[in-house]
Amino acid sequence: MSEPLLRADHVTRKFPLRGGMFARDWFSAVDGVSLEIFPGETVAVVGESGSGKSTLGRMLLGLMPPTTGTVSFRGTPLPSLRGAARRKFRREIQVVFQDTGASLNPRKNIGDSVALPLRWNLGLGRAEAATRAAVLLDQVGLPAEQFARRLPHALSGGQRQRVGIARALASNPSLVVADEPVSALDVSVRAQVLRLMRQLQAERGLAYLFITHDLGVVRAIADRVVVMQTGRVVEHGSADAVLSAPRHDYTRALLAATPVPVPP
Ligand SMILES: Nc1ncnc2c1ncn2[C@@H]1O[C@H](COP(=O)(O)OP(=O)(O)OP(=O)(O)O)[C@@H](O)[C@H]1O
Ligand SMILES: [Mg+2]
Repeated sequence: MSEPLLRADHVTRKFPLRGGMFARDWFSAVDGVSLEIFPGETVAVVGESGSGKSTLGRMLLGLMPPTTGTVSFRGTPLPSLRGAARRKFRREIQVVFQDTGASLNPRKNIGDSVALPLRWNLGLGRAEAATRAAVLLDQVGLPAEQFARRLPHALSGGQRQRVGIARALASNPSLVVADEPVSALDVSVRAQVLRLMRQLQAERGLAYLFITHDLGVVRAIADRVVVMQTGRVVEHGSADAVLSAPRHDYTRALLAATPVPVPP
């Protein structure tokens, strides 16, 4: 088997308990989670609000250190990544958030926003970055001719989210951590963006870590599923197995609460 791109080993993250009487009152938002993500696959992390999905995602992205346990990129623990290896990690692992579109610079046009990571992460010159940005916009269904010069406020939510995806793809990542990337979108646009993400995956051999509370989304996109409850993994397996024969009561409850499935 190939080497995992990312691996979490017994990762725990503690936070101070709000309203706790003493400084030593902590709770584990993520509690002893182990997980591997291999090239080209889609792993979904599901679980109800507050179960620790985003906290796990932030640790995998290196945005937050685990309290205990280790996250490794291609076999090297994140804190040991230096110089070129650290830059490789920063480039190869990209993120799309629910409100990625909203975090675009309101004064920068779409073309420039997508060109920026091309210049920073890939070291391209201005002209080449602009050309590549135009290709990326075309790929996410926003013809550059029509969209590149627009400011973010002149786009719909779904279009802004596509710009966020284009920007994540600009660094030519191996893995995109997508934290509720379609949750803010209307159902029909949601299906469109999911289709786009799957198509880009097929073209580029991308891996996704897809964080969601929506099992319809899991059905549409995931190879494997990890189910979290109060910081722990309570069930994991192939998407088919987990969705067709959930073993844990909690997963059954989640399934029962799932809205209309997203069409393929
Ligand atoms: N920076 C922080 N400081 C203190 N507590 C935090 C912090 N970040 C998250 N938490 C707490 O950790 C728990 C897990 O939060 P997290 O955001 O990971 O959940 P989630 O599964 O992503 O939920 P949602 O589906 O609502 O996005 C929650 O109880 C949350 O309040
Ligand atoms: Mg979250």
